Amino acid sequence: MNTSDILAALPLDRASGTPLFRQLYLQVKQAILRGALSPGMQLPPTRALCALLSVSRQTVLNAYDLLSAEGYLSGTVGKGTFISSQLPIGVRETAPRGLMRPLSERGTAYAQAMGSIGHHKGKLRAFRPSMPGLDLFPFATWSRLEARRWRRPDHHLGYSDPAGYAPLRELLCVYLRAARGVNCTPEQIIITSGSQQGLYLVAQLLLAPGDKVWVESPGYQGASAPLFAAGARVCTVPVDAQGMDVTYGVARYPDARMVLTTPSHQLPLGVTMSLQRRLELLRWAAASKAWIIEDDYDSEYRYTGPPLASLQGLDSADCTVYVGTLSKVLFPGLRLGYVVAPAALVEPLTRAKAVLDRHNAIVPQMVLADFMAAGHFGRHIKRTREAYGERRLALLNGIASALADELACGPSDCGLDLCVHFRRPLDEEKIVREALEQGIELRSLAYYTSRVATPECAVAPGLVMGFSAITPADIAHGLGVLAKVLRSAR
Ligand SMILES: Cc1ncc(COP(=O)(O)O)c(C=O)c1O
Repeated sequence: MNTSDILAALPLDRASGTPLFRQLYLQVKQAILRGALSPGMQLPPTRALCALLSVSRQTVLNAYDLLSAEGYLSGTVGKGTFISSQLPIGVRETAPRGLMRPLSERGTAYAQAMGSIGHHKGKLRAFRPSMPGLDLFPFATWSRLEARRWRRPDHHLGYSDPAGYAPLRELLCVYLRAARGVNCTPEQIIITSGSQQGLYLVAQLLLAPGDKVWVESPGYQGASAPLFAAGARVCTVPVDAQGMDVTYGVARYPDARMVLTTPSHQLPLGVTMSLQRRLELLRWAAASKAWIIEDDYDSEYRYTGPPLASLQGLDSADCTVYVGTLSKVLFPGLRLGYVVAPAALVEPLTRAKAVLDRHNAIVPQMVLADFMAAGHFGRHIKRTREAYGERRLALLNGIASALADELACGPSDCGLDLCVHFRRPLDEEKIVREALEQGIELRSLAYYTSRVATPECAVAPGLVMGFSAITPADIAHGLGVLAKVLRSAR
């Protein structure tokens, strides 16, 4: 069967309450997932398809539009529309064989939302990105504090407040006010399982299917996954030296409901959003009644001065939800994060958190509160900031002395990683593969590119190199390996 025959056979139910464009969108999506329509196939022009199905052209345009936004279709005006040859990773695997019935529409969206769920299994080595230095963590102190909690079990071991352990929320509040300029009370803080759960809850509570959300591209895929799962329309916005391009977002997606941004430190490009952009974004969001979700994940680590204050602290319209994590200042396996919500959102968020998992495990929350109250938290941040500063210099100096002709460094004043761009045309993925064969880990910038990125979001090819978890000696060794890989690349 050719594409037109397959599309002509799609059952559209005119008596159903579901709009025709949505039925068409769902049917084409299912046909792709079943493999009836394969990557690279050309779809009929919209005029031909509306004649074939006896529907309006707007119906076909709306369906194509949604399918393109979700990455199923690609194409340019005048050149035709094709089933994307770069289907969202895992699409074909998520039409599971052997399942009695296919996944629900929601289930399919969840199963496809996260591009990669790979995790590192081996020993930490150069240049694993976005990892804190576990060699610097005071595990003896942590285990002493935890053992003390287990020795004196109390009523907290029953069910507790879904918003989190109250003393921890109080301590976090003091910390966030002082260190991050966040404007909050302890009651506004909800403890979550990493920032991932915070982003998920916010997307579920605040977005309806089809709502537009600005995201930075390139950007952190983990943060757009909850948006895809909520059925939102992910709208990519380019990032330049001043951070997310707010003017582009306003011009291109003026009716967006939400903006997801990393103003303190953009992953992967490493830039910080300028004050002018912050004010522009806040002004637009307040006027458009759009939410700003501020993902503040590693900004404690600033090496050229004190950490920059949060965007939330500048917001006088209560439109910013601040999402934070302990994955970078402590370690990711702890799975502790927090949301600082405008007061009116606290109750619904807390109730939604209860639906999801009642509350976070209580003992890690208690141990963290003890760790903070005794001053270990502040000391750990200070110590790691110094050590990561040395590691950062080892990387920058190593590149300057041996690889300056190959690599141009991006901003490096903040965070756990360095973004580098190639000075000559090289295949990112090939470099990453060859480096891995030689025993070092790198991440391509393509890894951070949204599957629905607009052409304006393209960036010069390059790599992300983590330095914070790697000792200076391992950094020097890793750079030697990278030099060999780059020199032998054509
Ligand atoms: C931009 C960004 N936000 C948030 C996180 C942290 O996620 P979580 O708290 O779920 O571990 C990461 C982790 O790599 C990140 O890169």
